[in-house]
Amino acid sequence: MKIAILTGAGISAESGLGTFRDENDLWTQYDLEDVATPEGFARDPALVHSFYNARRANCASASHNVAHEALARLEKSDHVVTLITQNIDDLHERGGSNDVIHMHGELMRALCANCDHRWDAPAEMQATDTCPSCTATATRPDVVWFGEIPYHMDAIMLAVSECDLFVAIGTSGDVYPAAGLVDMATQAGADTLEINLAPSSRANAFARSLIGPATTTVPQWVDEVLGQTR
Ligand code: APR
Repeated sequence: MKIAILTGAGISAESGLGTFRDENDLWTQYDLEDVATPEGFARDPALVHSFYNARRANCASASHNVAHEALARLEKSDHVVTLITQNIDDLHERGGSNDVIHMHGELMRALCANCDHRWDAPAEMQATDTCPSCTATATRPDVVWFGEIPYHMDAIMLAVSECDLFVAIGTSGDVYPAAGLVDMATQAGADTLEINLAPSSRANAFARSLIGPATTTVPQWVDEVLGQTR
């Protein structure tokens, strides 16, 4: 079976990384206009770097969880799995997944806004850093900000349009184009499943749902798909 999986912040919540729209979470502590838009970065690059430096440190000290591991187990099965994530953390990779499609970029990567060079980000990035390739003072986290185009959309739309099953895990369904992928899957005749702590704003677009914390629901679902009973 061809399975396309889209994950959001909810799959990393039990690893201690904040989500965005639950109470007391990232967008209630920071104004996303200031730290997650190109305009905010142009206005105050030091503030934006300090925001991502803090998230990078938080991510480095966090551990992946059994939901990340379960998806890696599914990936190693005979099923054809495409793992698409909106998350910029590296917990899927640390949980054993390969070929993760990071449509909103990666916290652990840096980008030169002048020459498009990419490299592994240092723990702390500063506005005064220079690009290791072109030496311009134009370095930024390699993350997709609001108003920018998500990465790898061709590969994502191909996988979603060809899958037998589309599964969204731990995402509020508030941000497009990710929130619209379920419609593309449905139009292509795929089965659809939402796995979430609570019904998302796109819940009605899914044929089925599995409600509960990801560390319980995702291993349970993967075992069902693999035909194993734990
Ligand atoms: N298990 C499963 N789901 C959970 C858990 C959990 N333990 N905790 C929270 N959730 C669910 C919430 O119910 C919510 O639906 O995860 C979802 C998190 O939603 P958001 O905080 O909006 O995160 P996400 O959907 O990933 O945001 C999408 O918006 O801010 C931008 O670029 C950012 O990639 C992000 C995008």
